[in-house]
Amino acid sequence: MTAFPAREGTRAGERMAIRVPLFRADELKDARERTLALVADLRDEELLVPLLPTINPLLWELGHVAFFAEHWTLRTMLGRPSLLPGSERLYDSAKIAHDDRWSLPLPSRAETLAYLERQLDATLGAPYVDERSEYFQALVLFHEDMHGEATLYTRQTLRYAAPALPTATAPAAATEIEGDAAIPAGSYRIGARHGDAFVFDNEKWEHEVELDAFRIAKRCVTCAEFRAFVDDGGYRRESLWSAEGWRWRLDAGAEHPLHWRRADEGWERRHFQRYFPLRDREPVVQVNAYEAEAFARWAGRRLPTEAQWEVAATGVERRRYPWGEHAADRTRANLDGWYGDVASVDAFAEAASSWGCVQMIGNVWEWTASPFLPYPGFSPDAYAEYSQPWFGVQRSLRGGAWSTRARMISNRWRNFYLPHRRDIFTGFRTCAL
Ligand code: AVJ
Ligand code: FE
Repeated sequence: MTAFPAREGTRAGERMAIRVPLFRADELKDARERTLALVADLRDEELLVPLLPTINPLLWELGHVAFFAEHWTLRTMLGRPSLLPGSERLYDSAKIAHDDRWSLPLPSRAETLAYLERQLDATLGAPYVDERSEYFQALVLFHEDMHGEATLYTRQTLRYAAPALPTATAPAAATEIEGDAAIPAGSYRIGARHGDAFVFDNEKWEHEVELDAFRIAKRCVTCAEFRAFVDDGGYRRESLWSAEGWRWRLDAGAEHPLHWRRADEGWERRHFQRYFPLRDREPVVQVNAYEAEAFARWAGRRLPTEAQWEVAATGVERRRYPWGEHAADRTRANLDGWYGDVASVDAFAEAASSWGCVQMIGNVWEWTASPFLPYPGFSPDAYAEYSQPWFGVQRSLRGGAWSTRARMISNRWRNFYLPHRRDIFTGFRTCAL
């Protein structure tokens, strides 16, 4: 990463006379390459998807990424006009209701790509104004990364092929990981720390939580374990489900995880356009919070709270990542699409947290028992619609999946979705009662 030169003599609002290298330039270019690669192989018709509550038209999503980036880095920071006149009537997610995104006069694919290109060039060439320049670059970077992950689950939902990204074979695991980590009662600290490079408003700030002693699984629930729950009639036994979960199950007619099917040889799982036999030691993925809770009750266990999850990941040392302060790479976690799918729950054992929990970062997002709520003293940051509208409505998830960009995720990062979502690459681990 390139550091800014000394900033003596600059005041907020004043343009620097000299061009400074942009802190996030390489990452912004990398994010854009990924954005384009994730749709490059799709036909124009495939960018216009069926109206489903969980996805967006991919053509809209491309324009939305450019709109969001120019909104903060160019229009807000520099007062520039939009690079696409009328863009806010197309791409502002706070103003354009989800279902209306299917009836907009969207520019063509070529025009949308040209808009993206103009925006990236302008963002990379924007002069440094003040520390908000860095903040908004990071915000639009991570926003683009999040929409990249959304494109992956959209492709999975629609049975499109896996995107044409280079992938490697995930590292083999030496031993099978079993059992719980025992975490003593105490006062622990969770949340973002002053001095962290970039923090979302919902992570602010570090605060104390009092926890009773608890036992949390060292690894996520496997496909073999979840299959035993399904084969034991888990989806038919109302007593295992919450009232809300059971209502969902009846409405959805769910009998097993969304992408599973019974074949002659046993259960299969769909990954993009292909089915293959369920692999016992893979984590169950694309289950919703209700399915996770029903499994947990069947197993005589429960989901971790968000605070318990974070303490299990950070240890008493308050690490940024389970393994320490060093950023994630392919030897430590399954992120960034490096391996193209989930890896065995036993992989990356050396990157466990100091309590012995593996894959707290990467592989699958993990459901928690906690509603998504503000931390004490919360106030919204500039992008006020990022977190606040979803407090008390959605559920907290932690840890990031194989599809999450490595640069964004950490032990403190909070994701949030409605509990019935089965399309996110989410699994879970359980705690002893
Ligand atoms: C934080 C992943 C839940 O997808 O709704 C993208 C990210 N916010 N554009 C979402 C987001 C605005 C958000 N999640
Ligand atoms: Fe967005």
